[in-house]
Amino acid sequence: MVVDFSTKQKAEAEASQSAATKEIVIDQATLEQMDAGSLWHALVQHKPFAQTPPKCIKSGTGCYVTDSNGDEYFDGVSGLWCVNVGYGRQELADVAYEQMLNWSYSPLTMSHEPGIRLAHKLLELLGYEGKVFFSTSGSEANETAFKVARQYHAQTAAAGAGPRYKFISRYRGYHGHSMGALSATAQAERKLKYEPLVPGFMHVNPPYYYRFGDGLSEEAYTARLLQELEMTVRYEGAESIAAVIVEPIISGGGVIVPPDGYLRGVREICDRTGILLIYDEVVNGFGRTGQMFGHQHWGVAPDIITFAKGLTSGYMPLSATVVKQHIFEAFLDEPQPGEKSDRHFRHISTYGGTPVCTAVGLRNIEIVEREGLAEQAAEMGDYLLTRLKELLLEHPNVGDVRGKGLLLGIELVTDKESKTPLDDASIAAVMKHCLDQRVMIGRNTNTIPGFTNVLIICPPLVITRAEADRLADTLHQSIFSLSGT
Ligand SMILES: Cc1ncc(COP(=O)(O)O)c(C=O)c1O
Repeated sequence: MVVDFSTKQKAEAEASQSAATKEIVIDQATLEQMDAGSLWHALVQHKPFAQTPPKCIKSGTGCYVTDSNGDEYFDGVSGLWCVNVGYGRQELADVAYEQMLNWSYSPLTMSHEPGIRLAHKLLELLGYEGKVFFSTSGSEANETAFKVARQYHAQTAAAGAGPRYKFISRYRGYHGHSMGALSATAQAERKLKYEPLVPGFMHVNPPYYYRFGDGLSEEAYTARLLQELEMTVRYEGAESIAAVIVEPIISGGGVIVPPDGYLRGVREICDRTGILLIYDEVVNGFGRTGQMFGHQHWGVAPDIITFAKGLTSGYMPLSATVVKQHIFEAFLDEPQPGEKSDRHFRHISTYGGTPVCTAVGLRNIEIVEREGLAEQAAEMGDYLLTRLKELLLEHPNVGDVRGKGLLLGIELVTDKESKTPLDDASIAAVMKHCLDQRVMIGRNTNTIPGFTNVLIICPPLVITRAEADRLADTLHQSIFSLSGT
């Protein structure tokens, strides 16, 4: 029998077309039933969904998303802090489509052009020599960093030295959901009922001047924090510590910008003690804070850096762990014939750095650069911060308005003097008021017990001045809808 491939392909195309059409015509009520019967949503209690199903988003353009009722919302949190270039970018869809047809998959035990080009681009932007290891999520990028750090020390240690296996992170910091990354996360509500976690992770205080500055100058407060870190290192034994991990600006922990000398001081302690410094730039990276990378505000380089979210603006799952060259070189070996070596990095992520994800990442960075989105974030962020301070700080429940670029936080308190965190119901009311005005904002939910009182503003970097005004005005109305007691 002669098979007519063109007829077969046409029939397949028609079948898939009608399957797609069939999916599109599922009505909303049926979809909601299917949702209730099958989909486990992140970070939320499901019981209330029996009354109010979760919002079902259907489409998005620029800073806006539209739900199944046709209501359009301004997305003030960029999805989950990730859609830096905004929604609906045709060229990212085109790049993915072309790459899928051309070459969809090979593991990075081998190589492919989009992966090579993206790795090269990241190092070019960072301005140093090194190597890039791709994974699929921020958590995985941090897990990769932890394994690199331990193995690096194991392979460079003096004879007889014990393992450097411990990690220091800061309270309030979030570094991911997997067991290692969650161990580095120092937010008790995220860990509750999953402990015990991985041994060897410890925490120090974050640079949280608003709440703990205690009337000190920023310099004196920074010195106090650095002394605490130094003493932790000493008490634990520097020779047992692999790395310190920090977000340059803490994001999910409540948008905490460090005082100017802080990162430099951490770097100096690490240098003196042989501890590696890891920057988690999963949120900070790719223009979010008004520089391409958050740490560039202070000009202090890390040993290892992790990226995700803004790396593809959420269009594809991709993350990266970038190590400096001297670290990579500790993984090199030339075993003699018949000898077995285990110095190489024995780590792989099936979907880490696929041709499609890396091609999209590359084009996404091209957009950030071409459209000057880091500069736009700096300009619009300054504008929004100033507006929010002018509009909000006079309200008795607004303790602090802070941030850098388009990573902003509003800390709500019962009164400015005591700084007691505002109650949950009032904060929820502010968020609902914003939502009723079709503006979505974020909050540090399920993080620090008793301190989930920071509203988070993190819009796509393409936000215009008019949209910034709308955001500020909505926040103003919503916060002033509180009685102020
Ligand atoms: C600072 C930081 N690091 C790591 C992660 C984990 O990233 P992912 O959710 O992609 O695993 C997040 C996620 O929000 C984050 O905010």
